[in-house]
Amino acid sequence: MIFLGIETSCDETAAAIVHADDGPNAPAEILSNIVLSQTEDHAPFGGVVPEIAARAHLNSIENIVQQALSAASVTLTEIDGIAVTSGPGLAGGLIVGTMVARSIAMVHQKPIYTINHLEGHALTARLTDNTPFPYLLLLVSGGHTQILLVKGVGDYERWATTIDDALGEAFDKTAKLLGLPYPGGPEVEKAAETGNPNAYEFPRPLKGRDTLDMSFSGLKTAVRKAAQESSELSQQAISNICASFQNAVADVLENRLSRAMSKFSDIYDCPSTFVVAGGVAANTDIRRRLQTLCATNDWNWVAPPHILCTDNAAMIAWAGLERHRLQLPNIDAGIKTRWPLDQNAVSKIGSGRKGSKA
Ligand code: KG4
Ligand code: ZN
Repeated sequence: MIFLGIETSCDETAAAIVHADDGPNAPAEILSNIVLSQTEDHAPFGGVVPEIAARAHLNSIENIVQQALSAASVTLTEIDGIAVTSGPGLAGGLIVGTMVARSIAMVHQKPIYTINHLEGHALTARLTDNTPFPYLLLLVSGGHTQILLVKGVGDYERWATTIDDALGEAFDKTAKLLGLPYPGGPEVEKAAETGNPNAYEFPRPLKGRDTLDMSFSGLKTAVRKAAQESSELSQQAISNICASFQNAVADVLENRLSRAMSKFSDIYDCPSTFVVAGGVAANTDIRRRLQTLCATNDWNWVAPPHILCTDNAAMIAWAGLERHRLQLPNIDAGIKTRWPLDQNAVSKIGSGRKGSKA
């Protein structure tokens, strides 16, 4: 089975071809994975500008799809289906992607699957590591910070969310406060390498409270105060703030996840697997801390490679392929700018937003 994936929900125009043999647990292979980042277009504004994003998607989508097909040596007549992100995200980009996907499906008479971007992130561990259900997932991106129980394709329970800023957003805002370029996550990580993680006593919001939820806006305020203490920040001070910020974030995640792991173990006897996904999961320091937590608790650790943590279309193709081989019906409801993965979860500030990075 060969699937074409298309992803245009935020600031990456992406297309990919994924192949898998028949059978419910057959391993998959990424034949091509093309990602065109719009970072340079948005950098002067310090965040994603929706109209610029939509125009950039429109300008490059055909070329990116063509590149994905050529790199995989596959033609549109040879594919078995198309999967496209139809939410959550920025409306303009979502419309460009879904229109292209629908056109290809119509002309070539192929099935189309409209995919929740978060499901793409959630199922990536099955694409890369054939991870069996159920597993515990930390989804940390520019628009989302959630702990989810992944029970099956389309079967997700949200156990926790941020009650304010998403973690990627907190990284981006920290970078902005310190005068580092956009996107901030990788810049904060780089600066932190030469910093002292204990130089600043930043807060660990909600730590110790009887909740799995997270909060990062207080941490951002503390970073602002630290940055304002000196009129001109030295390179070392910036590094120290970044390292202390990252240390506080890792502490909070560790605390929440060890509680989530206990909750999981109360329900399931099966071997326990913990998965990280989303752009922030590309952070080496956070990965290392969470990997250690897994080792301490005797949990399997699955972390997709960096390129599959940040936005890409291979994860969308894969989600479509998983749905297709289970013969799940596609409910095409147009685009959805908000689309929680767990429809039953109580809506909270900061949960289910995407694309408001500016
Ligand atoms: O999943 P993603 O590519 O897009 C969304 O769906 O939002 O995540 C992008 C977010 C950005 O906020 C970016 O700053 C953050 O992930 N990010 C990182 C790192 N690489 C990307 N945050 C921390 N450390 C990194 N190395
Ligand atoms: Zn994402």
